[in-house]
Amino acid sequence: MSKCHWVRYFLVSVSLLILLFLEGCANSNDKQLKLVKQKCGVCHPVELVFNKKRDIDEWNRVIHGMKVRGLKLTEKEENEIVGYLTKNYGK
Ligand code: HEC
Repeated sequence: MSKCHWVRYFLVSVSLLILLFLEGCANSNDKQLKLVKQKCGVCHPVELVFNKKRDIDEWNRVIHGMKVRGLKLTEKEENEIVGYLTKNYGK
């Protein structure tokens, strides 16, 4: 096999890995959005969550307030939700 074949083979493999990696990022964002819709759309429309940007302290406070009102979350779900909201609706 010539050198060029190897270069091409290498480039194709690297591109595939990058695509797989990007796909993984998109999936985890989608999953978190689903979780927010599922957990935060029970007592009020989930749009209420998205209409104001907050920093991480404010999001933690909001979620604490929702827990006081009856929201049930595992620690992992809470981290996912705070992560999603801070990344997409942060200040
Ligand atoms: C058990 C019911 C319940 C669940 C579940 C719930 N909320 Fe709420 N939420 C409320 C109530 C009741 C209000 C409105 C009145 C108030 O502020 O006391 C409210 C209001 C809000 C507000 C507007 C108030 C403000 O301070 O601007 C935000 C933002 C919010 N919720 C975010 C969330 C998020 C994020 C989740 C999911 C992690 C969530 N809520 C899940 C009951 C809930």
